Amino acid sequence: MASSASSSILLLFALFAAVATASHHHHTRYMHLRFYNHERILGSGPNATVVYAVERTISSTGAGFGNIIVYDNLLRAGVETDSPIVGRNQGMGVGSSLAQNSGLTNFQLVFTAGEYNGSSLALQGLFPVAPLGTVFERAITGGTGKFRLARGYLLTVEVRSTNTTLTGQLDAYITFR
Ligand SMILES: *[C@@H]1O[C@H](CO)[C@@H](O)[C@H](O)[C@H]1NC(C)=O
Ligand SMILES: *[C@@H]1O[C@H](CO)[C@@H](O)[C@H](O)[C@H]1NC(C)=O
Ligand SMILES: *[C@@H]1O[C@H](CO)[C@@H](O)[C@H](O)[C@H]1NC(C)=O
Repeated sequence: MASSASSSILLLFALFAAVATASHHHHTRYMHLRFYNHERILGSGPNATVVYAVERTISSTGAGFGNIIVYDNLLRAGVETDSPIVGRNQGMGVGSSLAQNSGLTNFQLVFTAGEYNGSSLALQGLFPVAPLGTVFERAITGGTGKFRLARGYLLTVEVRSTNTTLTGQLDAYITFR
């Protein structure tokens, strides 16, 4: 039991190491981290990881003007639903577009395993209503723990959807100067 726990922790480190690249150039450190956001979508039943806090405008996308959603999604190392959990994506989205084609998200990635356990990244930016496969960008505005003074950007692309789930690939590009 102890050895299976420690081997799964080793696996986690290996997964992180495989996707993380860091380099040092004149006191500037760069980092690329990849993980997967596992969401149980709005309206998918009692286990949804996204809920309405305010439903001002009925819309099929959640991006109705004036709406507020709150979410707590799992971050996993891979796209499969049984891949190791590395943290959580917790935050909110506001229907901030009169055209109802995007929402303003404000969220944090909280790491709960691996090398970054206990650290977090703070982010914000527009989440477009767009087809699966569309890449969009949001800002990394800060962080805590190993991500103190972090800045950068997050590229997101939704890679898989079912009638109850949506899985997105998140690529975080981080610098610390
Ligand atoms: C919700 O989660 C519980 C606990 O894991 C599970 O027993 C139940 O089947 C789930 N319900 C749905 C609709 O997925
Ligand atoms: C993450 O850190 C917390 C607090 O130090 C600890 O209790 C927990 O066991 C760690 N989790 C993993 C998977 O290492
Ligand atoms: C989702 O699709 C499955 C079949 O793939 C079906 O059994 C289930 O009832 C559907 N759920 C909803 C909420 O539409």
